[in-house]
Amino acid sequence: MPSTTPAAPSVNRLSSSGSWTPDSWRDCPIRQVPAYPDLAKLEAMEQRLRRYPPLVFAGEARRLKAHLALAAEGKAFVLQGGDCAESFSDFTANVIRDTFRVLLQMAVVLTFGASLPVVKMGRMAGQFAKPRSSDTETQNGVTLPSYRGDIVNGPEFTAEARTPDPARMEFGYFQSASTLNLLRAFSSGGYADLHEVHRWNLGFVERSPLAERYQDLAHRIDETLSFMAACGMTSATTRDLRETDFYISHEALLLPYEQALSRIDSTTGDWYGCSAHFLWIGDRTRQLDGAHVEFLRGLQNPLGMKVGPSQEPDDLLRILDVLNPTNEAGRITLISRMGAEKVGAKLPALVRAVEREGRKVVWLCDPMHGNTITTGSKIKTRNFDAILKEVRGFFDVHAAEGSWGGGVHVEMTGQNVTECTGGAHRLSEADLGERYETFCDPRLNAEQSLELAFLVAEELKARRLPVPALAAQ
Ligand code: PEP
Ligand code: CO
Repeated sequence: MPSTTPAAPSVNRLSSSGSWTPDSWRDCPIRQVPAYPDLAKLEAMEQRLRRYPPLVFAGEARRLKAHLALAAEGKAFVLQGGDCAESFSDFTANVIRDTFRVLLQMAVVLTFGASLPVVKMGRMAGQFAKPRSSDTETQNGVTLPSYRGDIVNGPEFTAEARTPDPARMEFGYFQSASTLNLLRAFSSGGYADLHEVHRWNLGFVERSPLAERYQDLAHRIDETLSFMAACGMTSATTRDLRETDFYISHEALLLPYEQALSRIDSTTGDWYGCSAHFLWIGDRTRQLDGAHVEFLRGLQNPLGMKVGPSQEPDDLLRILDVLNPTNEAGRITLISRMGAEKVGAKLPALVRAVEREGRKVVWLCDPMHGNTITTGSKIKTRNFDAILKEVRGFFDVHAAEGSWGGGVHVEMTGQNVTECTGGAHRLSEADLGERYETFCDPRLNAEQSLELAFLVAEELKARRLPVPALAAQ
């Protein structure tokens, strides 16, 4: 039963003085910490990283915050997507390019569906650290630390690989830097040209078993681009058709790394997390008095927070007090990840509390993390229909509450993997073994991701149409 008790007044309960320093999180209870055997080595690595150049510039994070502020007001839509976990071994230009390309393709379709600008954020260039449900894993009677993402330890089931190693942070930093470098080059170097992206989409539609269904939307985009060209808006004349803004984001889980990459912005004197433009708090580390909330409250980046079925409305409001005491639009993005069966029961109370208290947030739907299942043969998967069902449920709740469902957050890849079942190509559980490559959660493949974008765009378009009774007046 959702609670309707009014929120407690704003109190900073995080420390007696309420003052924040980049290391004030170290005095708070913390979850999901790797057990580094050599703390001197960890500290030496933190010091090393502190001297390295920031990966992003504070002005970029402010720009993203301004874009997200529009999404909080219903004037933009957000697409956030990428790997569950990036990996050191799968680090190639093709992997980066293909994920980026599919995100762009999805964004074009969603822009048309929402008739609004789409803010694009990759779970890329730093999405390495993973929360785990158990600290250890046992195989054939042998128990080792769980794999916590390549920035912490290795996935192989050996004592050596599973021992957390601070040196991995440096590799993570450099991999993030070169991934971001390529993304910046693609964004402004001509690869992201809207006409190209649309052409790729036409190719996708042609190949899809659901071609007929998607053709209509694709052709309407085609017509729009021709119309714009006739009005003189071509790639040659218009920067926005030739280039795109693309931001990077990840879960700020590994706090020693995040602290080492936080910097004071020389123009404002404020602290920014400079490992990514946007940082989020996971569903397992969002405790009001916990280290992750404490650390992130002091950074001026736009922040995300996952909200799962255990999130209580009053607690949410108290966390918002702490993370966004001035109620700045664009500062907070709440990423709902309830599961297809729970979204209708759990999300309304949260949306209502946020609306009632006038809190400015962006609401995103993560239809992945509440819909993970394990098959009979012990493979983790997600079904496309459940994913779509949660997205629809999310928009239904927002429509009913009169608030703006501002975007989607998905785990996807540009590769042709077989990790999620369903979709137009009807992947079955028996197909999962073919190309199951994730180091963590199952991702939508390129075709499934685009399909989701087309279906969400259809939903958005349908919901934007005037209600017939009103239209007739
Ligand atoms: C994730 O986004 O990969 C994740 C672990 O999500 P959540 O915190 O919602 O479980
Ligand atoms: Co995941």
